[in-house]
Amino acid sequence: MKRIGIIGTGSYLPEKVMTNFDIEKFLDTSDEWIFTRTGIKERRIADEKQATSDLCKVAAERAMDAAGVKPDDIDLLILATITPDTHCPAGSNWLEAKLQCHHAVSFDITAACSGFIFALHVADRMIRCGTNKKALVVAGEIMTRVVNWKERESCILWGDGAGAVVITETGAGAEILSTHIHTDGAGGDTLLMPGGGSKTTPISYASVDQGLHFLKMIEANKSFKVAVNRFSEACEEAVAANGYAIDDVDVIIPHQANLRILQGMAKKLKTPMEKIYMTIEKYGNISSATVPIALDEAVRNGTIAKDRLVLLTAFGGGLTWGSSLIRW
Ligand code: UT7
Repeated sequence: MKRIGIIGTGSYLPEKVMTNFDIEKFLDTSDEWIFTRTGIKERRIADEKQATSDLCKVAAERAMDAAGVKPDDIDLLILATITPDTHCPAGSNWLEAKLQCHHAVSFDITAACSGFIFALHVADRMIRCGTNKKALVVAGEIMTRVVNWKERESCILWGDGAGAVVITETGAGAEILSTHIHTDGAGGDTLLMPGGGSKTTPISYASVDQGLHFLKMIEANKSFKVAVNRFSEACEEAVAANGYAIDDVDVIIPHQANLRILQGMAKKLKTPMEKIYMTIEKYGNISSATVPIALDEAVRNGTIAKDRLVLLTAFGGGLTWGSSLIRW
């Protein structure tokens, strides 16, 4: 069995900060409601000149720097995103050109907030089976451009940013022990962008008037409960597959959807909140990018150090969910 490892991490957050108090100025909401219901205080907003690939480029360059590899060393580039620069070509193709990864094949993965785990799973398998040698796995989003700023129950959740890792077969460094991914298409109508695809005329005056191009959350409190269960199942699955228990895990890096979801997950797993790495207060929900951003931050500030057992987990639209266990 090959030993596949993460040899570098990187992330990028746009400089502009939008606080809950800023949102109070144009929406019927309050810092108090947002913080107590979600754990979010502020989020980052991409500059209007930036596209998703611009955010991803910086994150990917930081990951390659940390790994000590050059763009020409990369032969696989997978981008997880639901906010690509364009739907055709794929966001990853733009990113490949910007990074000048001349020897890489690039493609996108769409798995909403679980996208990074899905991309990591595919890259890990492609290296294991010998198709590729060095992969850049990137997740990036500009969520604040696809939310409806008039829908207060949803727009307050999201932010922008990107994260990346370089993975390869290696005898040293963090070892990917497992990845598990799951979907339930029957739950697809709870977190979705109804317009912009072949189901409707992609863009029409009517679709724009109805706001079909915006991200929608239908009965978000129902997906809240599903999220708690799926996060917990994914964590249990990862540790069980490797002969561990949740108590053996040193750091859990979950997708940051809502602080209360993570508290529910911790309760279900009977694990202390101190084990759960949190970025939600300062960045909000950056869909696929929250996991690699939190991972990079935890690596750089020393929360994740050599020999630590690290559990990544995510849940999102699709429905999609998954996990990955890593021995750092
Ligand atoms: O990343 C993918 C996974 N993410 C999810 O699955 C999202 C999961 N869901 C959630 O995080 C939460 O359901 C939300 C944060 C979206 C909403 O929190 P909630 O505790 O479920 O609130 P709610 O929708 O049940 O609304 C409670 C009340 C309502 O008022 P009434 O009907 O009780 O009078 C809403 O109108 O809060 C009101 N409300 C707001 N008030 C102030 C909803 N949004 C806001 C707001 N500011 N922004």
